[in-house]
Amino acid sequence: MFQESLTCAAPKTLSIVTSALHEFAESLGAAVDARDRHTRQHSEEVAQVAHALALRLGLPGCQADVIHVAAHLHDVGKIGLPDAVLFKPGPLDAAEWTLLKRHPEIGADIVRPVRALCDCGVREMILHHHERFDGQGYPHGLRGAAIPLGARIIAVADSLSAMMQNRPYRPAMPFASAREEILRCSGSQFDPGVVAAFERCAPMIGQLMEMLAE
Ligand SMILES: [Fe+2]
Ligand SMILES: [Fe+2]
Repeated sequence: MFQESLTCAAPKTLSIVTSALHEFAESLGAAVDARDRHTRQHSEEVAQVAHALALRLGLPGCQADVIHVAAHLHDVGKIGLPDAVLFKPGPLDAAEWTLLKRHPEIGADIVRPVRALCDCGVREMILHHHERFDGQGYPHGLRGAAIPLGARIIAVADSLSAMMQNRPYRPAMPFASAREEILRCSGSQFDPGVVAAFERCAPMIGQLMEMLAE
């Protein structure tokens, strides 16, 4: 069993999260993906991979479900970004980067009215999904275990999905290369415990990504 666990919400809250809120999160995640042809299926991929990683880490099913919901919603804040930034084919300038880096906070604000999502930690996972294990991420520069575990799991799933999708400036990476890159960034960008779990189920995740791409 993985040493850390999320604060487990009350059973009533979890039953709500795993039904209507899950469907709503999927729908909002699909809305974000629909905006950008380069990120088609991204939220769905991140949700499925994050769920598999959470279970591989030994987290209880109820906690893996909460992380799954957060992963569907992790980029919901991109709804608030201008097209000129989101769809720019070339590199972003400093001002555009500043705007892009606001999407975790915008996303956290979007879900703030949904009390169940705040109570079970989903809002915090959205807010911190771009933190890095070494403290060099954003928005708060949190380091190590100060980053919510769900956000550390989503960070690995998010990078895997992003690397395996085409971008205007580079082609999609095959799974094997994305896996190597995740291993290389263990302890710097990513939590080594999450990367170890990823390695333990890498063949299954590779198959999952293939299936989702069909
Ligand atoms: Fe889902
Ligand atoms: Fe993001």
